Amino acid sequence: MNENIYGEFRPALEFTLKDIEERINRYCEEELNASGIELVEHISARIKDEESMVEKCIRRDLKPCPYSALRDLTDAVGLRIVCGFIDDVYTNVKKIKEFEGCEVIAEKDYIKNVKPNGYRSYHMILSVEEPWADVDGNFPGHFYVEIQLRTIAMDSWAALEHQLKYKKNISNTDIIVAELKRCADEMASTDISMQTIRDLLNEQD
Ligand code: GTP
Ligand code: MG
Repeated sequence: MNENIYGEFRPALEFTLKDIEERINRYCEEELNASGIELVEHISARIKDEESMVEKCIRRDLKPCPYSALRDLTDAVGLRIVCGFIDDVYTNVKKIKEFEGCEVIAEKDYIKNVKPNGYRSYHMILSVEEPWADVDGNFPGHFYVEIQLRTIAMDSWAALEHQLKYKKNISNTDIIVAELKRCADEMASTDISMQTIRDLLNEQD
């Protein structure tokens, strides 16, 4: 069971991931044609590795099975939307909330409520209706999708912090934590400046 934690549901998960990514690409294309604004810099989309999912179930004291992976946990299907500007993050959030057959079941704004380590990002969990049977035996089924939205600056900070987190036996931890936080805040300040520059340019149109 451990090698195949998604069982018969894998095709439904792949379908859901593709469906959401296509819907995002569609409104981005419409926005680009209408206003010339590129709402998304890039997207990364993934089904969580079976191995990481098994490991997460065990860490949470859950039996490593499809029900735990797809009902108790909500990040089997994940998309990360990386934007050029802070305002675009919130525009994407608004557009995603308008998706038909999608309900936002959880939301965390780590841009307004920055994590103590400096992490910034907007997280949402959707419950998406799809024409596939789900783990409760319902058809159409409901599938969770985790979406993380952030700017390029927030994304590069998170990528580096993630790398450093897995380094073992670090000394000077306090200094490193404080320096990482300082970098996050400097990058956030640059994000605000870039947004201001764009607003100033837009006023001249
Ligand atoms: P998970 O058990 O990791 O899913 O955490 P959670 O259920 O408390 O949710 P949360 O919204 O805090 O985090 C979900 C995901 O956001 C993580 O799996 C990471 O991808 C990302 N994330 C959250 N906090 C951090 C952070 O401090 N640094 C980095 N690099 N990524 C983070
Ligand atoms: Mg998660």
